[in-house]
Amino acid sequence: MTRIAQVSDLHFGSEDPATTESLLHFLNRLKLDLVILSGDLTLAAKHDEFARARAFIDRLHAPTLSVPGNHDLTPWNIPERMLRPYRRWHRYVGEELEPSWFGPDVAVVGLNTARRMRLKLDWSHGSLSRTQINRLGERFRGAKPGAFRIVVAHHPFLDEEGADLANRPKAIVHRADKALDAFVTQRVDLVTAGHLHRTYAAAFQTEAGQSAVVAEAGEPAHKVTVIQAGTALSSRTRDEANSFNLIEIEGGRLEVHPITWTGAAWRRADAALVAIARPSAMAA
Ligand SMILES: [Fe+2]
Ligand SMILES: [Fe+2]
Repeated sequence: MTRIAQVSDLHFGSEDPATTESLLHFLNRLKLDLVILSGDLTLAAKHDEFARARAFIDRLHAPTLSVPGNHDLTPWNIPERMLRPYRRWHRYVGEELEPSWFGPDVAVVGLNTARRMRLKLDWSHGSLSRTQINRLGERFRGAKPGAFRIVVAHHPFLDEEGADLANRPKAIVHRADKALDAFVTQRVDLVTAGHLHRTYAAAFQTEAGQSAVVAEAGEPAHKVTVIQAGTALSSRTRDEANSFNLIEIEGGRLEVHPITWTGAAWRRADAALVAIARPSAMAA
């Protein structure tokens, strides 16, 4: 079995030390193949916050794949933000802003949606460039045939279905529609994101008129599932407990199980939030 944890919005700077220790031990006991850190590792991109994030990464037994969030660019030092926005990220987290990881049955590709500035007042919003979207096929070139394909980003691509969005911040990443079409073309199975500090799943299904890409090609419908993770450590939990997502892949089946902090322990949900089966595996 391949086991991957998606741990998001750690926000070092607002973490509880006891919960941090507990999370570290819990993750290491899971014997993970990979830990995805989907952005907002810090609260305000301060050096001591990044140093605590680095110490956390160093104590994980599994390799990590990290993409920046909007909180990981300094909001205080504007010259640094404009000229060298990822200086602190490179120093403490890694050289790459968009790393990839290839396992026997899964390919994971990171996309950086954080921006130093936007032509809007709110710089917390995320964006993808056309180049990032167009390069996706090339990025998945190392994937094994039949492997599940996962994209990691910080900002969300789909709203929660049926939710009252009137009181929620609008946070869908710029060019989400174009990116979702590209995910269909590239047969991406799962998109993991954070930023909202809420756990939910949503699906982008290609039906007539919804995706010109697939309608023209006449290929069978492909469903892209999006999972949002809560904040794993931050006290800025909004109305949810701290949590992370566990992704398990075995025998052509991928499941996502949210794991929630009860205040004393990490508890796995009984039912999978998401279950995706390969058609060939279903027929076997
Ligand atoms: Fe966040
Ligand atoms: Fe964020």
